[in-house]
Amino acid sequence: MFTNETLQGRVALITGGGTGIGLEIATTYARLGASVMLVGRNEERVQAAAAAITQEGGKAQAMRADVRNYDDVKAAVDATVEKFGALDILVNNAAGNFVCPTAELSPNGWRTVIDIDLNGTFYGCHAAYPHLKTSTFGGSIISIITMLGVTGWPGAAHASAAKGGILSLSRTLAVEWGGDGIRVNTISPGPIGDTEGVQRMYIDAGKGDLEARKTALGRFGRKADIANAAVYLGSDLGSYVTGDNIIVDGGRWLKYVAG
Ligand code: HXC
Repeated sequence: MFTNETLQGRVALITGGGTGIGLEIATTYARLGASVMLVGRNEERVQAAAAAITQEGGKAQAMRADVRNYDDVKAAVDATVEKFGALDILVNNAAGNFVCPTAELSPNGWRTVIDIDLNGTFYGCHAAYPHLKTSTFGGSIISIITMLGVTGWPGAAHASAAKGGILSLSRTLAVEWGGDGIRVNTISPGPIGDTEGVQRMYIDAGKGDLEARKTALGRFGRKADIANAAVYLGSDLGSYVTGDNIIVDGGRWLKYVAG
């Protein structure tokens, strides 16, 4: 069980921190002692999320940033260090996605998702590096991907390619930056029932039951399942883990149900 001390004194920046898995990670981190900076495209949303964390006694700040813009990302990193004095954990969580057969996907549709997911993750890693390197805890980068980036994702080639790219980038950086004490890992969530993405792409599309059956456990996961993995990787509990991809998907990627 994690304690209130698990992330005590650490500073984390979470992209896409205003909603869904990002907000769950931010809230959990704050409960376990971390100071958190939430960034997202929607200023009102990230401010409200930070206010809710502060309301329950956590240390949180928020800032508008579009991860497609390197200057935005760098400004968010700099603001984090200015407000909290350090940056120890970067969570690359911001993502964009939609279902579209590849033959019908416009070049701009492709570029948009690659920009948010893959380029946004690179921008975060690059901007955070000098600070993670001087972290007294040892820096930790955690990027949220999916095993569909490994297996392929018919109907979401853009997101699949981006997530596969993030996995590769993370493994590269784990080696390049290991000597700086920075650990670089990914988490692969399966279908997480209480998120907007699964609601829109699966449940609203009438595929909820089918997608749940596609997991070995026969059910959707919860945002807390992903936040727990992020705590492990962000804390000393995972201090010898780098270049890894923690699969939190209920056995989804191992099981196939036709139909
Ligand atoms: C085809 C589409 C499309 C769709 C957008 N486009 N939606 N093409 N089908 N449903 C095309 C547009 O036509 C346009 O190309 C280009 O993509 C950019 O679209 P914009 O709407 O201008 O972009 P923007 O406003 O920046 O929005 C980005 C977005 C949007 C990714 C398209 O969906 C978004 O903001 N999403 C953020 C939230 C999100 O997706 N969260 C889910 C993440 S969940 P043209 O050529 O017309 O200019 C996740 C895991 C899901 O990643 C796991 C499920 C199991």
